[in-house]
Amino acid sequence: MSAMPFPESDFSGLDSLSTSTLVLDAEGLIRYVNPALETLLGVSGAVLVGEAADQAFGRSPEFLDAILTARSEQETIVEYELDVAVSGHPPMRVGCNISPLDRPSQGILVEMHSIDPHLRIARLEQARLQQEANRELLRNLAHEIKNPLGGIRGAAQLLEHELPRESLREYTQVIIKESDRLQSLMERLLTPHRMPRFGAVNIHEVLERVRSLILAETPSVTLRRDYDISLPEIRADSEQLIQATLNIARNAVQAMRGQGKIVFRTRVARQITLESRRHKLGMRIEIIDNGPGIPDDIREQIFYPLVSGREGGSGLGLTVAQTLVAQNHGSIDCESRPGHTVFSLFLPLPN
Ligand SMILES: Nc1ncnc2c1ncn2[C@@H]1O[C@H](COP(=O)(O)OP(=O)(O)O)[C@@H](O)[C@H]1O
Ligand SMILES: [Mg+2]
Repeated sequence: MSAMPFPESDFSGLDSLSTSTLVLDAEGLIRYVNPALETLLGVSGAVLVGEAADQAFGRSPEFLDAILTARSEQETIVEYELDVAVSGHPPMRVGCNISPLDRPSQGILVEMHSIDPHLRIARLEQARLQQEANRELLRNLAHEIKNPLGGIRGAAQLLEHELPRESLREYTQVIIKESDRLQSLMERLLTPHRMPRFGAVNIHEVLERVRSLILAETPSVTLRRDYDISLPEIRADSEQLIQATLNIARNAVQAMRGQGKIVFRTRVARQITLESRRHKLGMRIEIIDNGPGIPDDIREQIFYPLVSGREGGSGLGLTVAQTLVAQNHGSIDCESRPGHTVFSLFLPLPN
């Protein structure tokens, strides 16, 4: 291996990046720091470049650990919340992607962005309370609608028996059919409220079930798996997780009109906040599709009940999925652009 694996010019393109970026060489020496990272950490690149990461970030063992893992696994490590401190500076709460660079350099590329922990947790907590309030409202509303619906349907049936002409049945049938449709919508609004039954769950068995259901419904889609089979079993309700994942995967199939590629990916997720609690270890399940992406006008609302972007949609699939995953102490996140939509399900792992 040459003594200078990274010619200076390799990194000039990173200077103007607004993402804070750091490059380590195969020996763990800091070879490059872009201006955005200098600003983020409040340290001049001149101080950092040439120093060993172990030294510079000696007070950030979790960060160093993640770098080691990225190197040994040759895999991108995503950290959602991490405290990073440069010697002599206060720690910063950041999120980062740590990616091994291609051979032969064997370097490591680190991208960081700052997160204000108070803001983020407050926002998540706010969203969770809002959702709980929404669900409560909806549940009450569904009850209020269900009861009179039974009466309307019954009355239409009685009326039908008394009709003088057979041809008038057309009208009573409309009342009965529409009442049934509303009734089943209300049932679906009310059902996800059974208590979860926790047991040992292998997440890959859950995903394989969903995979075979999806392929049976729509053989034309391609469904690839990218599993981290070292993930341990979790305590969860497997039926609920199957239903949640199925709802998400079905949306992907529908958005792609049955033609396209879906990937099921599982990974360890480090430093995640769930239900306002930080977990050192969690699991990330991604359902990725290459369809058109979520329509702009509903992107922020897709987890709300009755929000749908498709003809005939009930807008309940994601609401239900979110509720079910929350009952398993997890959460769902979504990122979408045309050609690339990712639904990420986070679940806690025992530390
Ligand atoms: N993978 C996806 N790609 C594009 N749009 C999606 C995707 N998943 C969900 N959506 C959008 O979110 C909406 C809400 O989904 P959902 O809550 O399951 O209700 P429904 O499927 O009944 O419309 C969908 O109608 C669709 O517009
Ligand atoms: Mg749906």
